[in-house]
Amino acid sequence: MSRFILALDQGTTSSRAILFDRNGRIAGIEQKEFPQHYPQSGWVEHDANDIWQSQLEVAQTLLRKQSITAGDIAAVGITNQRETTVVWDRKTGEPICPAIVWQDRRTAALCDRLRAEGKEDIFRRKTGLVLDAYFSGTKLNWILTNIPDARTRAERGELAFGTVDSWLIFKLSGAHVTDSSNASRSLLFDIHAGTWDAELLALLDIPAALLPEVVCSSGIAAQCDAGWFGAALPIAGIAGDQQAATFGQACLQQGMVKNTYGTGCFMLMQTGEQAFVSDNKLLTTIGWSMQRQDERHTCYMLEGSIFVAGAVVQWLRDGLGIIQHSNEIEALAAQAKDNGGVYFVPAFTGLGTPYWDPYARGSIHGLTRGASKAHLARAALESIAYQTADVLSAMQKDASIPLKELRVDGGASRNDLLMQFQADMLGVPVVRPQVTETTALGAAYLAGLAVGFWESEQEIVALWQTDRRFEPGRSDEQRKELLTKWHKAVSRSQRWLI
Ligand code: G3P
Repeated sequence: MSRFILALDQGTTSSRAILFDRNGRIAGIEQKEFPQHYPQSGWVEHDANDIWQSQLEVAQTLLRKQSITAGDIAAVGITNQRETTVVWDRKTGEPICPAIVWQDRRTAALCDRLRAEGKEDIFRRKTGLVLDAYFSGTKLNWILTNIPDARTRAERGELAFGTVDSWLIFKLSGAHVTDSSNASRSLLFDIHAGTWDAELLALLDIPAALLPEVVCSSGIAAQCDAGWFGAALPIAGIAGDQQAATFGQACLQQGMVKNTYGTGCFMLMQTGEQAFVSDNKLLTTIGWSMQRQDERHTCYMLEGSIFVAGAVVQWLRDGLGIIQHSNEIEALAAQAKDNGGVYFVPAFTGLGTPYWDPYARGSIHGLTRGASKAHLARAALESIAYQTADVLSAMQKDASIPLKELRVDGGASRNDLLMQFQADMLGVPVVRPQVTETTALGAAYLAGLAVGFWESEQEIVALWQTDRRFEPGRSDEQRKELLTKWHKAVSRSQRWLI
């Protein structure tokens, strides 16, 4: 009997492969960073072949190191950095240009134009998204407009578009599919009807021939070619990384909320089979879809998206060189008893929820002669917590029930100083599970449920275990004082480029 599910977790800065056993525990993990490209201000690109090669390499290395064969694996689950846009030649399987990464701002002017033409409401109503350069639709339009011959070749059906899930599945199996959670991040998909939308495609001038088939997040979507892992393996789970993390956190009841601290930071609230429309600039998005008794069931979410979280620590490491390794940040920040009046707005790629400002840029405020690198490290960590507090405040305004606790995961959730400060700034307990690789775990669960490796969602809820609970410690007054200064700093970063 197969003992494991293999999860492929393709993130913004690294590719990982993780084996999970029946208890939802990690049995092996392999990770590889891959290059980021910043060819112009506000542009962020990946080489889609780096994504594929690094993902394949970690999966094959993991199986080799653990002496695991395909027979030990019941299914593969795929989860991915969302919105990043890849276009490839269907025959050769080669990308026609660099992948445009979710953080890339090059299509901000196109979004402005559509807004000026009064189109935002149509996008908001059908897709649940705001008109922002973040999503794949305008990135795909940019490729078709700027890459020689792309549009004519797309119209002839020679090219395929996909987010990273589609791209990896195409390379692994030859199938051209995506799941509803990824499709819901494109500005092209009607989240209520569950279909690509002809009006939206026309507004963004996108030929339907490019699009993948949309399948359920949990269900056998394709078979990996036998050559990759020694035998054919079913790909039975697909979800965008934030939705997968919500599943991995067992947020399976309406009103439950998780926050993932990765490159960015993404807070998602489960709203059940109802697509709830935000009055506070949150996104409405598809969490996952499942087939039950011949019917597709869709679970919706409210989402707040923060573009720079863990990436601010990487910048202190790679841009400033004040730390050698990301995990040194906690000790450095702890050298300062407080932020010393320093506030750091890491708007490197604009601001997401609730500001939605592609023209904002990063800034540091309150520097004095006494400011040290410890203050800067502390201000960087605090910026992650303040941004999260802004998102939670929008979510609390939308939701009628006050939040009881926030489940956290992702790399920076292991930082105790940040998690305590986070609880302090939210005034709500922050709870960290034993397995913080919930993104990969969620993809594994979606795949495992489809092939009977796990029987039910109740089984998954029972597997979730607390590692540590951080109780809020500061007074409302202290919290208010810090947040007021933060908002003052944010206002000075906004609309910087115009
Ligand atoms: O929407 C972007 C998000 O999917 C990226 O996630 O974990 O790579 O920061 P991450």
